[in-house]
Amino acid sequence: VSLKNCYNIEDLRARARRKLPAPMFHYIDGGADDEWTMRRNSSAFDDYQLLPHYLHDVSSLDLSTRVLGCDLKMPLMLSPTGMSRLFHHHKELGAARAAARHGTLYSLSTMATTSIEDVAAATSGPKMFQVYIFKDRELTKELLQRCRQAGYRALCLTVDTMIAGNRERDRRHGMTMPPSVSLQSLFSYATSFDWTFHLALNPDFRLANVAHRVDALGGGAMALIDYVNSQFDRSVTWDDAAWLASQWDGPFVIKGMSSVEDARRAVAIGATAAMLSNHGGRQLDSVPAPIETLAPIRDAIGNDLELIIDGGIRRGTQVLKALALGANACSIGRPYLYGLAAGGEAGVDRALSLLRAEIERGLGLLGCRSIAELGAQHVTGIRRPLS
Ligand code: FNR
Repeated sequence: VSLKNCYNIEDLRARARRKLPAPMFHYIDGGADDEWTMRRNSSAFDDYQLLPHYLHDVSSLDLSTRVLGCDLKMPLMLSPTGMSRLFHHHKELGAARAAARHGTLYSLSTMATTSIEDVAAATSGPKMFQVYIFKDRELTKELLQRCRQAGYRALCLTVDTMIAGNRERDRRHGMTMPPSVSLQSLFSYATSFDWTFHLALNPDFRLANVAHRVDALGGGAMALIDYVNSQFDRSVTWDDAAWLASQWDGPFVIKGMSSVEDARRAVAIGATAAMLSNHGGRQLDSVPAPIETLAPIRDAIGNDLELIIDGGIRRGTQVLKALALGANACSIGRPYLYGLAAGGEAGVDRALSLLRAEIERGLGLLGCRSIAELGAQHVTGIRRPLS
């Protein structure tokens, strides 16, 4: 099955599964514990239904919107994901270039296998950098300085990874960084010919933005992961988030919240936006889906924060539900990684084209000409309180 025979995100996922060695596929595809939250992120969209209003002139459709001070050509952006080199040799550059071509925002992870500068040089599209507050605050400050110099528009602090989630699929399939072949995964590597071929040509899996710190310590690749893990600071609080916000003068985003209280705190420290997110169900299992947290959080904070829904989106209709319930935009992780694994940059392009077409078709069928016309009158369903 070629990329052009992939008609939706699930088709790209199936193609990614065939192309990747099992440890890499399950690293993308899996979640924490029983993966209840991961499934719920998608299935909770079924609690809402779209209400079309017919006989409006929908001869021209406009998907553009403005979030984080950026004019985007569609209301769907790319979430930060680490170590894209594990999935395709086009790595972060392929994803960032496809995002720019679609006029949307690409988020680069601190855990990326491409540097801040290389992504900036490869694309002129809007970019956000996702950062952690490391024990070594100087490293965090250095990353911010590099982002400023490279022209990144927004900064995003991920707050739901102070402790690593329990991802049993990674252990079951022998996922390591850098990849290592074990008896259990040997067959899978041997049959993923393209992937293994490129690995042999270019085995560079360095975490490009932090590797120099380890080099300074005289460490190798494994030491790099140990170093990063040792830098996660479990003692970080809202005071530290406020400190980080004060270090950055552009749009500032807190990623990974599910409660009204956290949204209020984000407003208090001057954040521009919150990404309502549970890390795609990869961290704490049993957390509600982002889409269920949206209406209560919007009701509580009004328009004091932009709200971005991140998690479980596989269809354009889900994006339309989120926007009708009050989100400013949506964001995806796995869908574009399936695309990357399925066909590099062209695969990410395919994922974004499919979702864009679905959003556009759905918008017109709903009776709206633009994102701005979407509102509460276009959605019905269960609204649960969050406390
Ligand atoms: C992630 N995510 C993530 N988030 C983050 O802030 N920093 C990171 O480095 C990563 N790395 C990462 C790797 C992989 C393989 C995945 C699948 C996810 C979480 C990501 O930004 C996003 O929150 C979720 O992927 C959203 O859920 P969906 O769209 O995958 O369902």
